Amino acid sequence: MAQVLISSLRGILSHSRFILTLRSEQGKYHGLILFRLSPASLGGQFKDQPLTESSEIASNRQIYVMEATCPHLGAEMSHADIEEYEDSVVAVCPWHRYDFDLKTGKSETGLRTCTYAVQVKPDPESGEEQILMEAPEGGTNWRVVELRPVSEEFADPPPPKSTSTNGAAVPYAQEANEPVVPEEKPPKTLMEWAVLILNTPNPTLKVERTRYAVHAFRTGTITSIGNKVAHPPVPPVQPPRETYMNYVEPGKIQSGKRKNRAVMLHALANIEQWAIDLAWDIIARFGPMHKDLPPAFFSDFSKVALDESKHLYVLAFQSLLSPPSSVHASIPFQHRMVLSPSIASLWESASHTSTSLLSRLAIIHLVHEARGLDVNPKTIEKFRKAGDKESVDVLEVIHADEVTHVTAGHRWFMWMCEQKQKEQGLFREEVRRCWRGDIKGPFNIEDREKAGMSREFYEDLKGRDAVYRCCR
Ligand code: FES
Repeated sequence: MAQVLISSLRGILSHSRFILTLRSEQGKYHGLILFRLSPASLGGQFKDQPLTESSEIASNRQIYVMEATCPHLGAEMSHADIEEYEDSVVAVCPWHRYDFDLKTGKSETGLRTCTYAVQVKPDPESGEEQILMEAPEGGTNWRVVELRPVSEEFADPPPPKSTSTNGAAVPYAQEANEPVVPEEKPPKTLMEWAVLILNTPNPTLKVERTRYAVHAFRTGTITSIGNKVAHPPVPPVQPPRETYMNYVEPGKIQSGKRKNRAVMLHALANIEQWAIDLAWDIIARFGPMHKDLPPAFFSDFSKVALDESKHLYVLAFQSLLSPPSSVHASIPFQHRMVLSPSIASLWESASHTSTSLLSRLAIIHLVHEARGLDVNPKTIEKFRKAGDKESVDVLEVIHADEVTHVTAGHRWFMWMCEQKQKEQGLFREEVRRCWRGDIKGPFNIEDREKAGMSREFYEDLKGRDAVYRCCR
């Protein structure tokens, strides 16, 4: 039986649930959840049992891997309840409470999900314990492209309640003076939340609403994607921004070293704000156009939105420039939002790809976002040279997340190619049609490769010199 090496056992002791994404050499993706059961992560009979070395080691071996989405209607299983019976452990779907045996995948309802046999065994050379799983069918040479904790809710041991950042939103965004969940006509579906967030100009509220919506989607408070209804809500042509934000070219800013740092970080925060919108826009705009999109598409891009909101929060409101008022204090009023050419062209590209999901994935995710993978390490290096370790740590986390966002773009681009029964050569066609000029290196080959981008996705890549043509 072919196996896939997931990680060392040590590598998964920090949390009890992980998002696990595999990719085959044929470019197929598989989204999974890894559950590691432990006394600290389980309620029930283990709840008050003290951790001893032997119980900890034994429980750490209770590792299960199952499909990331429920076979019933596609809910995310990352926030499934885990319940124990005498001879089995089941994951209970947050949407309609169907339960699935973590070993066999069987449900009492008759449905069945795929589960994969997991083995823990020592590495022949180092002796360190490794986790391997049975390889999925439908591809060869599967490898792990993403293994990361579902969220801090599943830290093991759990974080103290007061410092938990479990993704649930605070009820009120102080700065915006508006409730996170509107009192009038609160959104009921993921589509409605996406459009509400796109129409939310205040960045703090945008972050809080994103956290709330993604958490509600994962935990079963929102149980409908809502892309198949007759009249889905329509996303704005361009998301509105606060009126106090003026846009200036970064080159026009005259400032000292400290201000430069603030301005650079603020420009990055601004990009993150657009990135949140792009993630919700792909959900809201293309969900209704492609009613056959599987639920995993919405899980992937809502995760991207959540990541981007975390980035914006960290860059703009938390450790680097916090509190929000100091953002404004550190930058002259007229420079509060910096519009770089890359931001301008980012939304321009989004507009020009607003009628084609294939074009959107190619241009935004596999050209613009992939370009970020080339540029980020240089930006991080600048901060490192300046001795700014705090910024370096934050930007490294952001960069690692961005690799997974390009991966999501690649995953769904390949899915679209499969639907159209075309090869990935379609990508060059899209770039020729929807992009101006050349795509220039140097390229971050290693991280592009992690994201699934082989050299055909960027070497000698050219767009047309002519003006954009509207994508189909
Ligand atoms: S039980 Fe999982 S989506 Fe219905």
